[in-house]
Amino acid sequence: MYVCMCHGFTDSQVRQAVADGCRSVAAVYRCLADRPQCGKCVPHVRAMVKGAPPCARAAALLAGAAAGAGD
Ligand code: FES
Repeated sequence: MYVCMCHGFTDSQVRQAVADGCRSVAAVYRCLADRPQCGKCVPHVRAMVKGAPPCARAAALLAGAAAGAGD
């Protein structure tokens, strides 16, 4: 499904960008299209970024912090 009609990118492209490490709306746009034009797609991209699990590196850092919290 198309997410952004101005740049013609799809939800699967956004999911792939997030899986590749984009963890903000700005990062997704830099990866796929430089920057939004009309901005109508920004809320949808934001929801997809927020719903994504943390990247492997962030998860490892969070796990390490949690393990050390009880020391
Ligand atoms: S629909 Fe994405 S910038 Fe316009």
